[in-house]
Amino acid sequence: MNNFVFYSPTEFVFGRDTEMQVGALARKQDARKVMIVYGGGSVVRSGLLQRVKTSLQEAGVLYCEMGGVQPNPIDTKVYEGIEFCRREQADLMLAIGGGSVIDTAKAIAAGVPYEGDFWDFYVGKAKVKKALNVAVILTIPAAGSEGSGNSVITKVDTLQKLSLRVPELLRPVFSIMNPELTYTLPPFQTACGIADMMVHIMERYFTNTQQVEISDRLCEATLMAVIKEAYRVKQNPDDYDARANIMWCGTIAHNGTCGVGCEEDWASHFLEHEVSALYNVTHGAGLAVIVPAWMTFMAEHHPKKIAQFAIRVFNVPQSEDLEETALAGVSRLKHFFRYMGLPVNFKELGIVNPDIDRLTDSLHRNKGEFVGNYMKLTKKDSKEIYRLAL
Ligand code: NZQ
Ligand code: ZN
Repeated sequence: MNNFVFYSPTEFVFGRDTEMQVGALARKQDARKVMIVYGGGSVVRSGLLQRVKTSLQEAGVLYCEMGGVQPNPIDTKVYEGIEFCRREQADLMLAIGGGSVIDTAKAIAAGVPYEGDFWDFYVGKAKVKKALNVAVILTIPAAGSEGSGNSVITKVDTLQKLSLRVPELLRPVFSIMNPELTYTLPPFQTACGIADMMVHIMERYFTNTQQVEISDRLCEATLMAVIKEAYRVKQNPDDYDARANIMWCGTIAHNGTCGVGCEEDWASHFLEHEVSALYNVTHGAGLAVIVPAWMTFMAEHHPKKIAQFAIRVFNVPQSEDLEETALAGVSRLKHFFRYMGLPVNFKELGIVNPDIDRLTDSLHRNKGEFVGNYMKLTKKDSKEIYRLAL
């Protein structure tokens, strides 16, 4: 196991009606004025936004609000938010929504105290030294941003989708998680969220670091729990316990718990970010296409951990032939994704003729000569993986 630092200061407040505690939690953070950030309107339609405002008012906390964050969030909304926040002099960002809203709130939180362009942080030109506190009310279990110190933003001019990682400053101070808020999710978004959290675990599980039994077993157990609860939620979207289990899985999938001490991979995410940047597809759906292709490639080139995944998570019988075992695991994973209503190739994702050269060029321009760690992918490898996803 490798050395690690694990710092996770987020206070998770989980369960029914917990959104009504937001006023008290904001006060506990000494917030004077909260800037509420939300998306395209699901929180307005569900009445959640109004309940949040009531709770803040009752606690005597001032607020201002900015809606309209789109899925695959963009830099222009961040600039707008930074201006607005400075004008309003808000001191706590409150994201109500999923990864797109939370990541926008984090970008604003880092951008407000910074004199330069917030995009400097995403391209590695500057380091975040100071940020406003971020808090979350989660409405979709998927990106894990409610527990992570990451933010992913797309620059519209260049179609670069880049991530920033600052756990010491951008992990939310509190995250409110009420599984009932997820009942209104369309089945496709539920499924995309499930794919995303599974892949967050897999990016950590597919490692060359040896003797990581605790991480391996946590990853396997969490994956098996997600799969089991996914079947239940598909049958009954209003099953509180299935929703609750999935919601917490989404958090521990990405807050570091499953991967500390391991060298993580992240190639599949980087391959996917190019796809959602260029074609604006839902991140989880993009992953359901890319990950089986990445695993198929690994079955041939580096099958060990893929075969272990197949045996332990998908009950594939053990065999001498690691490649065959690994491929059987890929096939079961695809079957599961299909059952959930997810695409497993570019065509099903709605991209009939993807521009593989452009995706590959952009990937290696953004991420360098080699991508990933389980196997360091060259441009030729990345192209092959995109082709396997056709
Ligand atoms: O915008 P509204 O109207 O709220 O609708 C949203 C949106 O259309 C809808 N939705 C959310 N909660 C709902 C709901 N609809 C009905 N009922 C509810 N309770 O769902 C749609 C998707 O929302 P979004 O926030 O985009 O989803 P997600 O949480 O999957 O976030 C995706 C973004 O996060 C990034 C992805 O790349 C993508 O840009 N990621 C962020 C990470 C991080 N910060 O750590 C890691 C991830 O790997 C990922 O890259
Ligand atoms: Zn993801």
